[in-house]
Amino acid sequence: MIIALNNKSNLDKEEFIPYINSLRKVPTEDQLIVCPGFLNISSVPEGFDLGAQNVSCEGPGAYTGEVSASQLKSYGVRYCIVGHSERRDYQRESYEEIHKKIQRLFESGITPILCVGETKEERENNQVNEVLMKELSTAISELSEEEKSKMIIAYEPIWSIGTGIIPTNEQIIEVFQFIKLLLPHTKVLYGGSANEENIEYLRQISEIDGYLLGGLSLKPEKLEIFLQKLH
Ligand code: PGA
Repeated sequence: MIIALNNKSNLDKEEFIPYINSLRKVPTEDQLIVCPGFLNISSVPEGFDLGAQNVSCEGPGAYTGEVSASQLKSYGVRYCIVGHSERRDYQRESYEEIHKKIQRLFESGITPILCVGETKEERENNQVNEVLMKELSTAISELSEEEKSKMIIAYEPIWSIGTGIIPTNEQIIEVFQFIKLLLPHTKVLYGGSANEENIEYLRQISEIDGYLLGGLSLKPEKLEIFLQKLH
């Protein structure tokens, strides 16, 4: 399974080395993709799959404060989270920007991990499929079939991120089946409050190809329990 670890804006310089050393000791046969903040990227040792949490929608050039896909590539980054709900919300990231970021990543040979998911209100109004369709179709337009199957989707219901609340298995299965109808060869992860306690429940869902973990990514000892219970 693919286990992507989204550190978000956590772990200062002096915290990161002990963190990565503990992470290194976690035994697993799963693919761990570590997505630290930009400044910690160069401190990730060999042996981890390296991911970023964001990328510029432009190429290299006069874009102050942005980090280009080719810069990420030069630091060994192989994956990049795109369209996380926190960026869509706080940074007002648009569908068009997300689309451009995916293009830049593929041009540099980096695999996008595209986050999609509905708010609580959208779910209550039965708009889940509509929201996902909009997020997916705008992001994947102009991608080749090969690129579509290479990219990774993370279904992250916004109401579940960092709240401790997860959807029912039936709700997750419904969404995964919808995504896989559109993108039959694409790996789909679940994200949103997945932890060492609810994994025994989530693991019953055969459609899930892996997990995108936020809070749990910061706790290697709990991550170890999660990975043990996953199989
Ligand atoms: P969470 O975050 O696991 O803390 O809910 C997931 C995410 O935002 O990627």
